[in-house]
Amino acid sequence: MISNIKYMAGVKSIKDIDIAGKRVLIRVDFNVPMDEHQNISDDRRIKMALPTINYCIDNNACSITLITHLGRPKGRYSKKYSLKPIQKRLERLLHRKVEFIENFEESKDEIATCSLERVFLLENIRFYEGEEKNSEELSKKLASICDVYVNDAFGTAHRKHASTYGITKFMKTKVAGFLMIKEIEAFSKALENPTPPIALVLGGAKISSKITLLSEIIPKIDKLIIGGAMSNTFLEALGYDMKSSFYEKDYIGVAKKVIEDLKKYKVNIYLPFDAVTTNSIENPTDVRVVPIQDIEDNFSAVDIGPATLKLFSEAVHLSNTIIWNGPMGIYEVNRFSRGTNRLATAIVDSYAYTIVGGGDTADAVERAGERENFSFISTGGGASLKILEGKVLAGFERLDRKS
Ligand code: 3PG
Repeated sequence: MISNIKYMAGVKSIKDIDIAGKRVLIRVDFNVPMDEHQNISDDRRIKMALPTINYCIDNNACSITLITHLGRPKGRYSKKYSLKPIQKRLERLLHRKVEFIENFEESKDEIATCSLERVFLLENIRFYEGEEKNSEELSKKLASICDVYVNDAFGTAHRKHASTYGITKFMKTKVAGFLMIKEIEAFSKALENPTPPIALVLGGAKISSKITLLSEIIPKIDKLIIGGAMSNTFLEALGYDMKSSFYEKDYIGVAKKVIEDLKKYKVNIYLPFDAVTTNSIENPTDVRVVPIQDIEDNFSAVDIGPATLKLFSEAVHLSNTIIWNGPMGIYEVNRFSRGTNRLATAIVDSYAYTIVGGGDTADAVERAGERENFSFISTGGGASLKILEGKVLAGFERLDRKS
């Protein structure tokens, strides 16, 4: 059976078609983080879409319409989620004018008949109720303004929405952009043709959000390294009392089953054996590093301890492929970020092929100053998890295929 990755790698890219003189609609993912003043705090997703946009400009597309969502405005206009700040950043990055389309209904005929080389940015597509409902009406309208549909929104490729999926039903030509292809190639290297030993480093809060991934990936890896609050559930399953630490009581049985499966497939598991603990996450007046079995009453584990960091670092050093998803603790708080930061450095010092998936992990890598040193940092959180789960992403499903 053809794997999900091979299936997705089989789609046509924008390079496989002729776009000269064509009206091109590109679904991008400009869902970027912003501060309370609507300053873009990380424009990586915008930068990663530039090769596709520039390719269209350089190859004389007659018009380019960019569509993205920002946040979750739930089908209604909200100033907070307007794309105005993104238009400005995009103009600066592209060195050209980007026309902002506030009202799609009013402007769609102008876009559809445009014969000059113009770049349009449509206001947040999630201001339309039909987007998340994958409405045929909205999909058809979007399709009516273009000749070619390009999906380059990897971060949203796991969503079956009008602009990521529904539109393909009404398009004759529908292909992937360069970012989509680059992401698939990176995951292919880690999952289809990896150099063993292969280590999966998992962190973050919940085992419940990663259980499908675990059941899919265990047979393919050699080591499973678990940190973050997720490891608390495993440690509880092994009989440790994690005191006030967050863990998922309902998933202790699942954690036990994962441990059994790891034994069955001869996968080594690495769990924390010491932790940074605190009496309060919001107002930490007492912070202690203790062995897991000595966590005090009313204390919570908030980071891996130094001995665990050493063990995890050794485990990654002896790996040739490392897939990382999820921080080792509450990395957003400086005091509890050491385990995540230092593990990021250990991972890139390993000489392995290193791939990061997940918004939090990418952010943690950035904070650790190691962004440039990873082999690949995916722009997708949910999308990369789905790939690791063995799924074909909706955004690839109906794109044209290479013969
Ligand atoms: C993301 O940031 O993960 C993507 O842009 C998808 O956003 P969503 O989870 O709101 O669909």
